[in-house]
Amino acid sequence: MTYPTQLLPSVEHIKALLPPSLADMAVFVYDTIDSTNTQARRHLQQGISAPHLVVAHQQTDGRGRLGRSFHSPQGSGLYMTLVFDSSAPLERLTSVTPVAAVATAEAISQVCGKEVSVKWVNDLYLEGKKVCGILTEAVTFAGGHHIMVGIGINITTRDFPKGLRNPAGAVLGDNDPPVDQSRLCACIVQRFMESVSPEKAANCLASYRKRLCFTGERVICTRHFPADSEPLPPDSMEGIVMGVDEDYGLILALDNGTAEVLRGGEISIKPKL
Ligand code: BTN
Repeated sequence: MTYPTQLLPSVEHIKALLPPSLADMAVFVYDTIDSTNTQARRHLQQGISAPHLVVAHQQTDGRGRLGRSFHSPQGSGLYMTLVFDSSAPLERLTSVTPVAAVATAEAISQVCGKEVSVKWVNDLYLEGKKVCGILTEAVTFAGGHHIMVGIGINITTRDFPKGLRNPAGAVLGDNDPPVDQSRLCACIVQRFMESVSPEKAANCLASYRKRLCFTGERVICTRHFPADSEPLPPDSMEGIVMGVDEDYGLILALDNGTAEVLRGGEISIKPKL
């Protein structure tokens, strides 16, 4: 069964659903693109100003963290990149990706009626399976910092090949009715743009903490090194998850009685079985 065409994202529908404060935001919807993050970068190079939004019905080269690819078939998911300008470089914006995770989780709750958890730092999980990943990138040119927050949500895995169907999770079960993807997209954008303001920081942190997976559980965290660095073994650390600090650093209680705060996107976390 293919996804109903009228429920796929469209420029007109997304724009109609955005609040008046975002009425000027340019919205681009592509049927097929390599990657919405890559396209957003091309837009910036072509002089298309931020903020703007890039959405695709499918990606042929969807990209994930740690150099992984993100499977992005037609109609199965929402693939979007929100571009905005910042006065600070990405390294100083530690909360952008967690804020995007909270905005996406709350939009999924509002539009799809499903409660997802956050696996530190930015993956969303439902019933033990990943349903959403976020890839935040930055470009700096002409003295300005431009941030691209790419969000990929598996809406349904109904049409996934058999081998991929089991490991991949989706927001909708096989018997759930399809959702309006323009509505989900507009809701994420609105929540994200509202939440990045400093006044909303405390609410957002509280919502993140409420949804955080593995709190009180023993986990193994592994730091991954870039593919082009010296060949180093992955660096692992085991401990009990105590929560996140004010900057979304993961607080890990180690067996030697000390606590370690982990930061940065190149760390993966899994439960110790
Ligand atoms: C991850 O799980 O490691 C992050 C996945 C991010 C996927 C989204 S889909 C929209 C945007 N375009 C991309 O190429 N990647 C992000």
